[in-house]
Amino acid sequence: MNLRDKIIFILESNRGSYISGQSIAQSCGVSRNAISKCVNSLKDEGYVIDSVHNLGHRLDPSCDILSESGIRAHLDEECAVKVFSSIDSTNSEAKRTIDTFQGDAILASCEQTAGRGRHGRSFYSPNGGGLYFSCVLHPDVSLSDATAITSAAAVAVCESIAEITSGSPKIKWVNDLFIDGKKVCGILTEAVSDFESGRVQAVIVGIGINLTTEIFPEEIRDIAASVGVRVNKNALIASIFKRLKALCATLPDKSFMELYRDYSLVLGRDINFERNQVKYKAKAVAINDDGSLEVITENGEKMLLNSGEISIKL
Ligand code: BTN
Repeated sequence: MNLRDKIIFILESNRGSYISGQSIAQSCGVSRNAISKCVNSLKDEGYVIDSVHNLGHRLDPSCDILSESGIRAHLDEECAVKVFSSIDSTNSEAKRTIDTFQGDAILASCEQTAGRGRHGRSFYSPNGGGLYFSCVLHPDVSLSDATAITSAAAVAVCESIAEITSGSPKIKWVNDLFIDGKKVCGILTEAVSDFESGRVQAVIVGIGINLTTEIFPEEIRDIAASVGVRVNKNALIASIFKRLKALCATLPDKSFMELYRDYSLVLGRDINFERNQVKYKAKAVAINDDGSLEVITENGEKMLLNSGEISIKL
């Protein structure tokens, strides 16, 4: 880590509290003068740092700049972290560079110029307003267990958003997160697998959260919204990553599906969906451990949905 990154790491680890120039200098093995100079250039970059004589430096809780050492400051384990100011898509970048990571990795960007969603859709990713990141994980699971990782990710994001923003997101089957009837987060999971062994080599879990974006393109204006809170982006990414890693350990026993059901926006609701060009009205009655949605149509027929879109009467 260079001096700049070390200082960000120390300030982020002590966010909200003053830490003396002397103690930062000691940790970094340089003079107090060198620390002051570097802190001043961080301020020029936009970091909100209070420097008070006899107290030291303090990273303001409102500062929401995304950084590699800022994310690392909230992680307990070694993990590759890359932050881009702009990139086409963090999932695409993860795919392109997957062989360069020895273990797990986090790739985040302040904006995406070609953010990707499910079903070949795009994901609106403007600069500053959201959190766009991909977690590269190596769970030792079969391909069928790996498909459950998206549901685990939805649970991880719900819990971290609830903890850090006090918002109450709900999961709209399969894996969109909604607050007050509008989508605030989407998840795109892609697997790199070994056909011979039937095992998964790596999973790329791409997560996009609208945090403070206010204006959305015409075509999604009625369905998209933001969490509406400025948060510590570094802490939120690290929190989701840690939760997701912990839930990955439970993929084979699917115990996280209990939480998934607790967060469901769909259970017990009237829904509409289309199958083989036929439109159905139904009630969502259960979500099974394999992620399938059990519905009873208005004709009393029981159906099991494994994928596809549904709409809910809110
Ligand atoms: C969806 O809503 O259909 C899924 C959206 C997933 C968006 C995230 S943002 C980070 C990662 N990179 C991408 O290009 N997509 C995912």
